Amino acid sequence: MNIGVIGAGAVGMLIAAKFSQQGHEVTCYVKRESQYKLINDYGIIYNGTSVKVKAAMFPNITSHDLIIVATKQHNIDEVIEQLCLLSNKTILFVQNGMGHIEKVKKIPSQVYIGTCDHGVERKSDYTILHHGQGEINFSVGGVNALEEKDNVLSRLNSEQFPISHEPNLERILYRKLVVNCVVNPLTAIFHVKNGAILVPEMKGIAYKLTEEACMVLHMNLDEMWDEVLRVCRNTSENISSMLSDIMNGNPTEIDHMNGYLIDHNPDHVLLPSHEWVVKMVHAKEKLKGEYMLS
Ligand code: PAF
Repeated sequence: MNIGVIGAGAVGMLIAAKFSQQGHEVTCYVKRESQYKLINDYGIIYNGTSVKVKAAMFPNITSHDLIIVATKQHNIDEVIEQLCLLSNKTILFVQNGMGHIEKVKKIPSQVYIGTCDHGVERKSDYTILHHGQGEINFSVGGVNALEEKDNVLSRLNSEQFPISHEPNLERILYRKLVVNCVVNPLTAIFHVKNGAILVPEMKGIAYKLTEEACMVLHMNLDEMWDEVLRVCRNTSENISSMLSDIMNGNPTEIDHMNGYLIDHNPDHVLLPSHEWVVKMVHAKEKLKGEYMLS
């Protein structure tokens, strides 16, 4: 299959490398010439091994059997604008957070929304470490997507890199949202790997965040708490995407995660823990330079 991956951060590079290893022809669309050159020269270094992947400059998107969008939420508008110019494509979005869900509906192609819970760390513009095996779940996201299980995406499923269809979009999104609303801010605030959340003192805070999130989203608390712990165990060595953003001086996706819960709370559930972590992560985004200890 000929696959285009838009965005070469941790998740984009993981997807590109895994599909290339399975014999697919993969092109990563990037915005910086330096990254374009590195990927074209060296491929993607996946756990120390070079995997052949082509790079191309965004927004010059050529023809692909499947396009996977792996950009951060703050880049999603310009990507959607470009995808609206294409027709008859199969497109999968794999963002954290909820900002893109309504926006993708204007794309005229077959659009799917997915979640990715692999533990993957970006070490450089062309290097990743895959710390924790996870999976991609997807569901119909746009008006023209095929409901059937045997669409292009289901054909990509493999034991090494599972991709599974889940009929209920809300369920996969909410499950991932709860995990991200717990793991991402805590790891960013405490500057720790995901496994630190399993320490009893951290677990107490994580549980409170899980409980508040489940009340807003009407999710089963026991089931979601097990899911949070499962992801922390599976990705214990991973640096979360939010901690990585803080470390690299990039804006975080906190407003699309905990901020989304606060803004979409029809039952007016009290969310003191989420309100605090949003404030703390915004403060972390601003704390750079002279006051920081190395
Ligand atoms: O954002 C992340 O880092 C990831 O979604 C996850 C699954 C929490 C692993 O670090």
